[in-house]
Amino acid sequence: MLEQRIRHRGLQAKMMTAEEAQSWIKDGMTIGVSGFTKSGDAKAVLQALARRVERSGETLRINLYSGASLGETDGILVEHQLIARRLPYQSDASLRKRINRGEVTYVDQHLSHTAELLRSGCLGEMDLAIIEATAITEDGGIIPTTSVGNSPIFVQRAKHVIVELNTEIPEAFEGLHDIYLPEDRPHRAPIPIRNVRDRIGTPYIPCSPDKIIGIVPSKCKDTPSSIVPADAETQRMAEYILDFFQHEIRRGRLPKNLLPLQSGVGSVSNAVLSGLAASPIGDLEIYTEVMQDAVFDLFDAGKVVFASSSSLTLSERMTEHVMRNIHRYRDKIVLRPQEISNHPEVVRRLGIIAMNTALEVDIYGNVNSTHVGGTQMMNGIGGSGDFARNAALTIFVTKSVAKDGRISCVVPFVTHVDHTEHDVDVLVTEQGIADLRGLSPRERAVEIIKNLAHPMYRDALMDYFRRASAHGGQTPHLLAEALSWHQRFMETGDMREAESLVPVM
Ligand code: COA
Repeated sequence: MLEQRIRHRGLQAKMMTAEEAQSWIKDGMTIGVSGFTKSGDAKAVLQALARRVERSGETLRINLYSGASLGETDGILVEHQLIARRLPYQSDASLRKRINRGEVTYVDQHLSHTAELLRSGCLGEMDLAIIEATAITEDGGIIPTTSVGNSPIFVQRAKHVIVELNTEIPEAFEGLHDIYLPEDRPHRAPIPIRNVRDRIGTPYIPCSPDKIIGIVPSKCKDTPSSIVPADAETQRMAEYILDFFQHEIRRGRLPKNLLPLQSGVGSVSNAVLSGLAASPIGDLEIYTEVMQDAVFDLFDAGKVVFASSSSLTLSERMTEHVMRNIHRYRDKIVLRPQEISNHPEVVRRLGIIAMNTALEVDIYGNVNSTHVGGTQMMNGIGGSGDFARNAALTIFVTKSVAKDGRISCVVPFVTHVDHTEHDVDVLVTEQGIADLRGLSPRERAVEIIKNLAHPMYRDALMDYFRRASAHGGQTPHLLAEALSWHQRFMETGDMREAESLVPVM
């Protein structure tokens, strides 16, 4: 069976255990690993490395680059103090803690940028790539598993490659992937994707067989994603978005089957997609970076005609379903490198509807998706900026309050800006929806406060806006007061007393 999956004869001799393969890893190395939002990540070799340092007690730190978050491996590595530098995205609680303590250097990066930075040499040399694969072709080409992420650029740039051959992945995964690497600048051709379903590359990652130094058989499963079920509030937010879509179709501003949808991780996006199953809207196309359970439910309901992504990030139940029935979906799915799934040129050309989640938004529409209180990293910007900056319609959702109402997620000024007001078209909370397209900052403020803020914060926000406006300006602010709600929360554990703020004249 293994021979069938390693079709390059010479490479069959390079099979080894994870324990043997990890011995290639040396202190200070820069290692690129497959993996995107916990799917298709290299697991066996890095976990064997953790066991090695546990046994030997040696100090070893690596620079770890990936597509996006890894499954449990991120946590295991950081618990063994193995990570010196991490990019471009993570979502692990212990890694987050160490990043915020300053013990791990973290570069929070647009997910389409990593490949360009590597290509340009700005991220230095890559010593090793570890890539999870379904099979290896006659020429040494690597067929990825449940994600593509940054694997193609890692394989191209790394001095050596270790393949984790995962025999749990059905061989029918071969053919799902479309690997295309843009040429070096300045002689780059346009990326020829004109439709969501276009295939422009090869079904494998090209790799010189000489680069592959080891092939490790593996049966490790992806860490399943935990889908938070919609509560009454997220359900309401999904309904606002679905009504808005219908309204835009009636006005002739969106086609009957919408535009290709990108939906970020999170319960609201999932609820919107699930809501589409019961809506009259059909023939949907998905052009996203993370394909979650809801997309497969929509396939099964006959609502989605094609989906392009960089990963399949599924719950345990859906993983089993997809693995068993992959033949049903094979001709309706393509998995692409993240620099292509998130590429500005393609996102703009296709006219994506992008739906992502904010931690907080301000009265002018700036969005913070990454930093709690302006300083503490949550996960990272991921692909939200890649899509938000270039989509035809950019939607951000957030609940209007957090921590039982002690935090307003609509504030005078966000503590960190990931997405500027210029890139944000529509904002949604459980209170309502604000269509900001074509509005000036002052007009936006009124819409945002009126439609999105929680009633217990609405008057205080309007009061701030009115007093700020009295001082003039295109985007009125009282700078000494603009961040005072956050300061108050830090001092008292509650933003609510902000209503009694002394006006700054
Ligand atoms: N201030 C402080 N804490 C806040 C907050 C605010 N304004 N808003 C939310 N929180 C807290 C919540 O209370 C919750 O805390 P808990 O973990 O202690 O319960 C936590 O932040 C997460 O909030 P939640 O509402 O559960 O958000 P989520 O799981 O939907 O994630 C993001 C929201 C923004 C963190 C997440 O979407 C993200 O990482 N986005 C950036 C990456 C991205 O968008 N990628 C795009 C495509 S995949």
